[in-house]
Amino acid sequence: MIFKIKKCTLEDMETLQKVGRETFYETFKDQNSPDNMKAYLEKAFNPVQLERELSNIHSHFYFVYVQDEVAGYLKLNIHDAQTEEMGDESLEIERIYIRKKYQKFGLGKALLNKAIEIAKALDKKKIWLGVWEKNENAIGFYEKMGFVKTGSHTFYLGDEEQTDYIMVKTLEG
Ligand SMILES: CC(C)(COP(=O)(O)OP(=O)(O)OC[C@H]1O[C@@H](n2cnc3c(N)ncnc32)[C@H](O)[C@@H]1OP(=O)(O)O)[C@@H](O)C(=O)NCCC(=O)NCCS
Repeated sequence: MIFKIKKCTLEDMETLQKVGRETFYETFKDQNSPDNMKAYLEKAFNPVQLERELSNIHSHFYFVYVQDEVAGYLKLNIHDAQTEEMGDESLEIERIYIRKKYQKFGLGKALLNKAIEIAKALDKKKIWLGVWEKNENAIGFYEKMGFVKTGSHTFYLGDEEQTDYIMVKTLEG
């Protein structure tokens, strides 16, 4: 599949909100209550929150486009934008989402390779992420991409406490 990856700016906020809500909803709606989904979507994808994240110099968003359509997005964090204190040698993939109709065509791998390219350019030693223990599809993908489970942390979806595995990939050269 032919694609291109472009960095997001503040002007992309509305598109990011739309794609962010859509992909989060379609990924997790079947395993979570409507109330918890609604609460999380409102908290995480409201314009004020997204503008704050897009303005953070230590967070970087990218869209992957197929022709002129956004097929998915990537959010990276470094330094104190990371959601856990993992130190300055680490880069976090906080979000990597491909819209359903574009999954399994290599676009997730393309975004992951983008994260690796940026981590190496910034001289980071490892990439890490948190993934819900019940998200078997994503865990399979990360394992295929060379990530290993190293621990866990707590994530709140609405009022439900959930366990995320921490997965890490060490970068060479
Ligand atoms: C997880 C996700 C990003 C993967 O992206 P994708 O575009 O579907 O995956 P790709 O086509 O790039 O797959 C890349 C490679 O991983 C493999 N792979 C993909 N999913 C896999 C799985 N569940 N188990 C094992 N291998 C998998 C592919 O076969 C492919 O292998 P290859 O390089 O040998 O051809 C995508 O499915 C997605 O957005 N899911 C919903 C959102 C989500 O859960 N995000 C993560 C939240 S933590």
